[in-house]
Amino acid sequence: MKEIIQKPRGTKDILPDDEKYWRFIENTISKRCQAFDFGKIETPMFESSKLYTRAIGENTDIVEKEMYEVRRLVQNIEKDGNDETLVLRPEFTAGIVRAYIEKGMFVWPQPVKLYSFGPVFRYDRPQKGRYRQFNQFNLEVLGNADPLTDVVLLLLTWQIFSDLGLKDEIVIEVNSIGCKNCRSKIKKTLINYFKQYKSQLCEDCQRRLENNPLRVLDCKKEACANIATGAPQIIDLICVECKDHFKQVLEGLDDLEIPYDLNPKLVRGLDYYTRTTFEIRDIRDESRQSSLAGGGRYDNLVELYGGKNTPAIGIAGGVERIIEKIKEVDVKIPEFKKSDIFIVQIGESAKKIALKLIYDLGEKGFSTSCSLGRESLKSQLKAADKTGAKLTLIIGQREVFDKSVIIKNMAEGSQETIEIDDLDKVLLKYFKS
Ligand code: HAM
Repeated sequence: MKEIIQKPRGTKDILPDDEKYWRFIENTISKRCQAFDFGKIETPMFESSKLYTRAIGENTDIVEKEMYEVRRLVQNIEKDGNDETLVLRPEFTAGIVRAYIEKGMFVWPQPVKLYSFGPVFRYDRPQKGRYRQFNQFNLEVLGNADPLTDVVLLLLTWQIFSDLGLKDEIVIEVNSIGCKNCRSKIKKTLINYFKQYKSQLCEDCQRRLENNPLRVLDCKKEACANIATGAPQIIDLICVECKDHFKQVLEGLDDLEIPYDLNPKLVRGLDYYTRTTFEIRDIRDESRQSSLAGGGRYDNLVELYGGKNTPAIGIAGGVERIIEKIKEVDVKIPEFKKSDIFIVQIGESAKKIALKLIYDLGEKGFSTSCSLGRESLKSQLKAADKTGAKLTLIIGQREVFDKSVIIKNMAEGSQETIEIDDLDKVLLKYFKS
């Protein structure tokens, strides 16, 4: 028996029945982004590993455990002079910042507003809502430090979730983790606090404590989460400017009546963040293990890559998780039309005419489908119904002989027989444009 090859763990096949969800989300995002003057950017699916090590941070789960290396699969490889390690992108932000610098977007009118949609890859432990290949929608605004930019990005995100029918299902959690000048005070205070409980922390947190104590606040392990409950609050440790920035963000959200929860423990799992951070959570997710979207300011990242001082902010949403939520609450989403016309054929001669019609009608801009097997009239009509076609053209032996075609109006159930030469004229009646 031949081995049946299966899809890799943590990946998903997306079948035609699910296509409407993907289209719905992608259309919603591009419509809203265009209204907010965001341009679409596509960056490579693999990049130099240095890009992520430098930005996301050496002591993060993504960099320590979750990146996939990309290599040419050839034995006895001759070196081609380029020894850099390439990895599949685990997120969009780092690649977009690289492109911002490399493509000179800093000379464009600022801020530069960009959106993306596509797959990212992380070696995560697969479970419901957690995959190794998953899709993100991603929004970035580069070149503006104003708190109003934070508000506008959250407004756009809120409106996207609202268009997706999830407004009442989500909560926006916000926090500020201060600027780079606040970091040493925050680190020192947190290290002092967590040191007392060091032996009770998980292995990862013990190891990361000295370098990156903020990570401990983000640890999902029960023991660490319990200890973190009593930790000093970051918001009390940030500088006056950061406090004022955050206050203005919250006032902006209040003015627009965008609901939010303050979460003083929200630090995010990537190191590049500064000041405002946020996560969009499912209100019913009591385990608090997974967010629907997350992001924040990253005011130092462009500089970290060798660019000029460029404050920036962004957010990414997990598309698979959003689709699972849309299905769970049964959001009514628009069915998209698959074809205008379905052609039913009975017999070999009819099949030849059907093929010619698919070609001719396609040239005229109609989307047309057909069963090309030997299915019965009944099962072909059932297939026609499923495609949502407006009209079905039926060609049997009699129609071949008479050079005619039966036109069935699928919505009304009525039908008429016409000469095949009159088809264009009659179709105009049904499809006015
Ligand atoms: P992130 O929080 O790592 O942020 O990921 C964003 C979203 O991706 C999460 O909220 C979640 O919905 C989804 N996600 C993460 N891991 C998985 C997984 N294993 N399976 C399914 N979905 C997942 C970022 O990626 C940042 N780059 C966001 C950002 C943009 N910050 C600034 N700009």
